[in-house]
Amino acid sequence: RTVIVLNGPNLNLLGTREPEIYGAATLADVEALCAERARQHGLRALCYQSNSEGDLVSWIHEAGQLYRQGQLAGVVLNAGAYTHTSVALLDAIKGTGVPVIELHISNVHAREPFRHHSYLSAAARAVMCGFGVAGYGLAIDAIAGW
Ligand code: DQA
Repeated sequence: RTVIVLNGPNLNLLGTREPEIYGAATLADVEALCAERARQHGLRALCYQSNSEGDLVSWIHEAGQLYRQGQLAGVVLNAGAYTHTSVALLDAIKGTGVPVIELHISNVHAREPFRHHSYLSAAARAVMCGFGVAGYGLAIDAIAGW
């Protein structure tokens, strides 16, 4: 089975982007962590990043295909700022029925008020934030048990 890890806008800048909030790990570090953790659970990780909302929608559709074939363990989705704006991503999760963990590196509830609302949480199987990049590994641990 496959776990799909989707990172949205500006997460390609991990490591240099506001390191006091997001830490020093790069996106490559995060993707290596995910691949290794998935491997430990006997899962395959597919990791994608895009700054475009439509790419994220299309990858959720791809996940939906795997899901219908019984090959998807789950999706880890850090939609970045689209979390707070995107009805399209909400509809993609609802429309495919894929089991998603909504993930944020930072504790969004301790930050600006506009980060407190997520369009995605209503359709996510689980929501996690504030664990730093270690959260990706924890999310894969959880998905491995689904
Ligand atoms: C984020 C939190 C979002 O509010 C922000 O727009 C991001 C990253 C996080 O991982 O903490 O880009 O999703």
